[in-house]
Amino acid sequence: MSNSLEMPLIRYLAMSGIGSRRYCDKLIQDGRVSVNGEIAGNGVRVVPDKDRILIDGAPTLLAPEMLYILLHKPRGFIVSDNDPEGRPLARSLLPDIGMRLFPVGRLDFQTEGAILFTNDGIWANKIAHPRNRIPKTYLAKVRHVPRKEDLEKWTRGVSDQGQILRASHVEIDRRTESNAWLKVTLTGGVNRQVRRMGDATGFPVVKLVRIAIGNIELGSLRSGEYRFLTPKEVRSLSDYSGTTTKPSDRPSVRTHSSRPSKGTSRRSR
Ligand code: URA
Repeated sequence: MSNSLEMPLIRYLAMSGIGSRRYCDKLIQDGRVSVNGEIAGNGVRVVPDKDRILIDGAPTLLAPEMLYILLHKPRGFIVSDNDPEGRPLARSLLPDIGMRLFPVGRLDFQTEGAILFTNDGIWANKIAHPRNRIPKTYLAKVRHVPRKEDLEKWTRGVSDQGQILRASHVEIDRRTESNAWLKVTLTGGVNRQVRRMGDATGFPVVKLVRIAIGNIELGSLRSGEYRFLTPKEVRSLSDYSGTTTKPSDRPSVRTHSSRPSKGTSRRSR
């Protein structure tokens, strides 16, 4: 967020994380806020990186804006800070906000679809924690067409490399003569789980797309595009984990949807 914008003093105070707007309004009414040495009145506007804003004589600092981004990661992009093999990084598709963006969990190099990024590291850790069991929904194109009893194995549990892998739900979304698209919901956080379940049951996954994280759906977001989450969406994920780090508690959250500028919005796979 740029600090060079002029804004109402009350907005600046609320964004600084001092308290609610009502509380900040009272601070101003009580004559406890000064701007450039003058006690500030209610209508005052400030330029945060220019004006000297004090509360009870102590300086205030603008808290960073918290951003929560849904990216449609293309196949062939890696969710990592860097890659020794020089493969393209998913974060290169995100806007440059001048702050580190943390991925929330993982998504395989060969898998495309929904992945969240945020500069709110505490929130990212809480949301990604397997204990939260946030459902993640995938469309998996598999070789061959499984029967009902084959799919029952997916929900009963499949043994692989000493682990029991389970899907909370699986159904055939559509099929051809030789392939099926399965809609699979997982609540666990096991690495490469869908692909491993496919291999272990004789239905290897040939294409995998994550279409939803909790109730946040990829929707019409195209491969390589991103959008900002709404506060309601952020809260819906926070509610799984009982985290107190909710956007309403934060100084500000960018609420609008956004598309990257032309030329950077989409990458070919
Ligand atoms: N299951 C997989 O096999 N890969 C992913 O990226 C996510 C779930």
